[in-house]
Amino acid sequence: MKVATDIPGLDKLMDGGFEEGSINLISGKTGTGKSVFCLQFLFNGVTSFGEKGLYVTTEETEAYLKKQALQFGWDFSELEKKGLVKIVAFEPFDIDTLTTKITEQVNLTGAKRVAIDSVSMFELYISEAYRIRKSIFKFLQKLKEMDITSIVTAEIPEDSNALSRFGVIEFLVDAVIVLQYMTIAKYKRSLMIRKMRTSKHSMNIHPFEITSDGIHVMDV
Ligand SMILES: Nc1ncnc2c1ncn2[C@@H]1O[C@H](COP(=O)(O)OP(=O)(O)OP(=O)(O)O)[C@@H](O)[C@H]1O
Ligand SMILES: [Mg+2]
Repeated sequence: MKVATDIPGLDKLMDGGFEEGSINLISGKTGTGKSVFCLQFLFNGVTSFGEKGLYVTTEETEAYLKKQALQFGWDFSELEKKGLVKIVAFEPFDIDTLTTKITEQVNLTGAKRVAIDSVSMFELYISEAYRIRKSIFKFLQKLKEMDITSIVTAEIPEDSNALSRFGVIEFLVDAVIVLQYMTIAKYKRSLMIRKMRTSKHSMNIHPFEITSDGIHVMDV
């Protein structure tokens, strides 16, 4: 089964959407649209498919994200009143605690779609590479055990060609979408599906726009 994002132009690039129950990494440098992607995925989940959503932020406040969403006409406060979405802000200091809190919230809300924005920070609290790998593995394992389809975001440092800060998480997830921003290109924003384990997917670089109603992947 596929979980469509309903982000215009995107699902057809990945054979209909994300795999149900999968964990999908959205990575990109700062300002590339990772948080907008998360908001749009969850908003569409509720409004197009009647699936409840949970947004876990480790970087912004709940109020800030609601304000950002409203700029695109996505009224999260309204949906939250109806129990259809929830935004929770958690400090990323300890992955085990974060995992427990996310599990609690998934059970409490009945969310089918979960966005975790971002996982970059908690890598910073662990010094040894093998422990980063182990903790992230355990964290993703827990997510897998839940009846949800999730997206997690990771920030790519400005000077890096990797897919995440420590180059670990991309190996452990089912799919990776990379968002890019290039000031000199004709189309400034583009995305590529870097991997998707279980589906045929586009191998091309696709320009996209962020307009007043969100992300649109362009047909070019
Ligand atoms: N209402 C809007 N209309 C058009 N574009 C917008 C609008 N709001 C935000 N944007 C664009 O989206 C970008 C922000 O995207 P977003 O916050 O999702 O990035 P991000 O990848 O999450 O960044 P960070 O790493 O800083 O969290 C802005 O830099 C801006 O160019
Ligand atoms: Mg963000």
